[in-house]
Amino acid sequence: MPNQLERFSLEGRAALVTGAGHGIGRAIAISFAEAGARVVAVDRDEEAASSTRDTIVAAGGECTVAQADVSRRADVDAAAQACVDAYGRLDSVVNAAGVIKLMSLADLTDETLQELLGIHLHGAFYTTQAGLRLMRANGTRGSIIHFVSGAIDHPSPTLSVYTAAKAGVAALTKVAAMEAGGDGIRVNAIAPGAIRTNMGRRHGYDAEGNFDPVKVDQFYADRAKECPLQTVGEPEEVALMALYLASDAARFVTGQTLRINGGSQMPW
Ligand SMILES: NC(=O)c1ccc[n+]([C@@H]2O[C@H](COP(=O)([O-])OP(=O)(O)OC[C@H]3O[C@@H](n4cnc5c(N)ncnc54)[C@H](O)[C@@H]3O)[C@@H](O)[C@H]2O)c1
Repeated sequence: MPNQLERFSLEGRAALVTGAGHGIGRAIAISFAEAGARVVAVDRDEEAASSTRDTIVAAGGECTVAQADVSRRADVDAAAQACVDAYGRLDSVVNAAGVIKLMSLADLTDETLQELLGIHLHGAFYTTQAGLRLMRANGTRGSIIHFVSGAIDHPSPTLSVYTAAKAGVAALTKVAAMEAGGDGIRVNAIAPGAIRTNMGRRHGYDAEGNFDPVKVDQFYADRAKECPLQTVGEPEEVALMALYLASDAARFVTGQTLRINGGSQMPW
């Protein structure tokens, strides 16, 4: 009988991971490499992406860096092509790049609106289109994975653009899954709850811009208290969900938003 766990392997595959310099994207790049994939680590922060690459290579994996801003179509296309050039194929696209900015609608500037829509919504379109084009060209039955947020279920004030963009990405995921299914390409999204990454650092600043790490710890402690499992998540735990979606283990899973939040209702 074949070992079912072999279906989680990414041996021989190639993956493009955006936001691979920090947090969830970094953990995914490392997990995918551990599962056998060759990885293109994409980030606008080239130094951070290089650190991810160094970690993977030091552990015996294969990784190259592509510096790119996901809100620019040309950057995304070039990064995706770099994966095919380096590894001869593209099996998985993980779109984990992101930023968060808190701003009431009264204060929302056009600059912030365009920036957040550009990174989250346009970035999701660009990565989806580049992935589909290259996978179809090579006849690859690949997997595209987006990151949305628990905020799409439980919105809160000051997160209007972030929440609207993420809800748009969840909708795009469904449509893309329908269009791509005939080619055996799967498109899914992950909606994390509170995961301990740099994204939480925004809670450490006061009105004058001074940073206090204790405030960040307090933010996560408060989130843990609200969560049925009484804890927050770690990037490595999210990476295992992405690994599942990228692998043949999820052959029958598409168009879904999988939630990883400890049962939390995300009430902030
Ligand atoms: N951490 C959480 O609690 C949480 C919760 C819900 C959703 N998410 C989502 O998960 C994803 C990953 O978040 P994270 O917590 O790992 O954040 P993070 O801040 O730790 O890492 C984000 C990475 O994206 C990169 N990046 C930002 N803008 C970019 C751009 N325009 N082009 C290329 N790279 C860019 C950053 O340089 C960074 O390396 C994001 O989409 C985020 O919205 C996170």
